[in-house]
Amino acid sequence: MASILDAFKEVHEAIKERDLSQKLKVGIIGTGWIAEAHVKSYQKCPDVEIVALADLIPGKAEAFCARYEVGSNVQFFPDHKALIDSGLCDAVSVCTYNATHAQCTIYALEHGVSVLLEKPMCVTLDEAVAICKAEKNSGAVLSIGFQPRFDENMKLLKRIVQSGELGQIYYIQTGGGRRRGIPTPFGTSFIQKDTAGIGALGDIGCYSLDMVLNSIGYPKPLTVSGYTSDFFGKDPSYEHHDVFGVDDFAAAFVRLEGGVILDFRIAWAMNLDTPGDTILMGTKGSVRVPSTECWNGSVGGPLVIYHEIAGEQIETVIPMKHMDKDCFDLKIRSFVDAVKEGGEPPVPSSQILYNQAIIDGIARSAALGKEVEINIPEI
Ligand SMILES: NC(=O)c1ccc[n+]([C@@H]2O[C@H](COP(=O)([O-])OP(=O)(O)OC[C@H]3O[C@@H](n4cnc5c(N)ncnc54)[C@H](O)[C@@H]3O)[C@@H](O)[C@H]2O)c1
Repeated sequence: MASILDAFKEVHEAIKERDLSQKLKVGIIGTGWIAEAHVKSYQKCPDVEIVALADLIPGKAEAFCARYEVGSNVQFFPDHKALIDSGLCDAVSVCTYNATHAQCTIYALEHGVSVLLEKPMCVTLDEAVAICKAEKNSGAVLSIGFQPRFDENMKLLKRIVQSGELGQIYYIQTGGGRRRGIPTPFGTSFIQKDTAGIGALGDIGCYSLDMVLNSIGYPKPLTVSGYTSDFFGKDPSYEHHDVFGVDDFAAAFVRLEGGVILDFRIAWAMNLDTPGDTILMGTKGSVRVPSTECWNGSVGGPLVIYHEIAGEQIETVIPMKHMDKDCFDLKIRSFVDAVKEGGEPPVPSSQILYNQAIIDGIARSAALGKEVEINIPEI
């Protein structure tokens, strides 16, 4: 039988041979904050040419192009439809605010254009289902932009859980947040209902959910009892309280297929340092992930495994792994490879559909004030 230490061995990726003569033509839909990270990573790919930029705000794409020296042959479009209709792009990054994720992604897929879609996948489960159906009919690649998936410590957490050394996972606690950190870096698109749709729940909650659900293999969510609040965003002393229309805190108790319980809480603002570490409890061992800003890509400190060896209660501390590559670069490069080689999407929609179903269930349950079932239609 493999030793538990085998689960912590470095897994070195084979150096990939790439056909750099075939350039992938890429467009960016939405030229706001996160588009910068996409462009910088695409610019590191010698086999990618950014050919088109679109934004609803007149002049924004042109100014973005000049600021990040995107190229002199780039064409500009007033919205996602005009960009896709131009036929210039093999693939697009959808970097719009949450409320337009679904319409941009579906339109691109319906036209056979591959999509790297920023997180959260969208706002509602209905939108997520429509995206997955469009993907199924398209033959194009769709990947969702969860860069922490490429972090070595996140991958290690999954390998530990998948090794079976913890036995059967039956209880998970996850989440996190900021004492004060409602995101308004370049405007209010994260906090307005018509642009964001959901607040902390979707913005950073989706990462906490992905960290643990990916580790255990994304079982289907069955029921949820959820809660959301907006005490900080709506506080009259908060400068944007008049436009704040989403949640700044969410909590939930979720039942997953296979008898797994998920206890979740996430905050953009709270009178607390952290709502707790992430823990996965198993029948043979448990793992603790120190409270983490997992939206920044990694875990919050060395993982600790609690287990029993020769009748002794043992704690094994796993040293953190050093990353010599940028997670954003890996997210973009893996998407480009999947489109060029026709491979599997690095972060498949079939998994993130369940992530979105939980977010949707929490919002529905919170609005109704009672537990709700999660019903995900066949794609
Ligand atoms: N992966 C990450 O680390 C990360 C970090 C920040 C934001 N994000 C995600 O990226 C998305 C965008 O965030 P942001 O901070 O860049 O927002 P932003 O508001 O700064 O920019 C979004 C831009 O999209 C444009 N837009 C909206 N609909 C459009 C359409 N149909 N066609 C063309 N342009 C359109 C808007 O005009 C705006 O300029 C959000 O969903 C957010 O959750 C991800």
